[in-house]
Amino acid sequence: MLKIDNLTKNYGSFPALKGLNLEIPDGALHGFVGPNGAGKTTTMRILATLMKPTSGTAYVDGTDVVKDGQKARKLVGYMPDFFGVYDSLKCWEYLDFYARCYRIGAEERKTMTRRLLELVQLEEKEDEYVDALSRGMKQRLCLARSLIHDPKLLILDEPASGMDPRARAEMKGILRTLREMGKTVLISSHILPELAEMCDSLTILDHGELVFSGSVEALNDKMNGNAPLDIRLTEGCGEENVEAAVRCLKEMPAVTEILREEPYLLRIRLENGADVCTDVLRQLVMKGVPVSDFHRAPMNLEKVFMEVTQGA
Ligand SMILES: Nc1ncnc2c1ncn2[C@@H]1O[C@H](COP(=O)(O)OP(=O)(O)O)[C@@H](O)[C@H]1O
Ligand SMILES: [Mg+2]
Repeated sequence: MLKIDNLTKNYGSFPALKGLNLEIPDGALHGFVGPNGAGKTTTMRILATLMKPTSGTAYVDGTDVVKDGQKARKLVGYMPDFFGVYDSLKCWEYLDFYARCYRIGAEERKTMTRRLLELVQLEEKEDEYVDALSRGMKQRLCLARSLIHDPKLLILDEPASGMDPRARAEMKGILRTLREMGKTVLISSHILPELAEMCDSLTILDHGELVFSGSVEALNDKMNGNAPLDIRLTEGCGEENVEAAVRCLKEMPAVTEILREEPYLLRIRLENGADVCTDVLRQLVMKGVPVSDFHRAPMNLEKVFMEVTQGA
């Protein structure tokens, strides 16, 4: 559905995008993650034909967004990160106005407006002024607007930013519906966990460069090799047991770091790629250390993000 081909964008002499390549299959719900200034909005504005790249191009369903903007605009629905809403309009009028811009007939506009408001769970707000909506509702209204011309690809720039957990859950529901409708969605955020829970696949961008692209599971796997091991000793087993455990771990060359997280919880790191978990456990048990729990610490996605973007 989307193929980004060696895309670059310079603002003056500042390179905001440095040769981005990316492919997203039909029907994917793809997250676009990166810290502020990574180049997410720049990429999305180019895809929405609002800006020309410095070089490279992108194809939406085979259409070149740079050379054939007119056709591309029919295929792409774009929800910007900062959007204006006309406050003096009622919700239905707002959508009706945009539907007119797409030259949609009166009868069709009526049914479409209602259907879209339903989709974004604003049907009860039909006759309310846009002004009176909460931020989350305005975001959803804007999402409805981006769907008016029934685009195949939806580009949502930070739609969940500033949402409370409830609003985020609603957004997740809407995204699922969009997927059922067969849409392909590219959705950005600077918060990795937020996207990891909504998307099937992710691209991580940092300083205009791709640092990771693949499934959420692949990202976890990539990082889990480095995940620390948590070793819990029986609560209250005494200082001498903790000391014995630390002494034992220090003797093992593959153990690169030992942290005492809690009185009876040790967190260790192993040399990159060292597959010595069973050995660590065996040694501890042989020394009589009362191990009550032994597992890979779950990777905090925020940490994964910090680690993946560290070098770039
Ligand atoms: N119109 C502009 N003029 C100059 N620099 C810009 C402009 N828009 C964005 N930038 C710079 O380009 C980089 C990428 O910005 P942006 O695409 O908005 O990133 P993101 O959406 O990931 O936060 C940032 O360093 C930003 O300051
Ligand atoms: Mg942005």
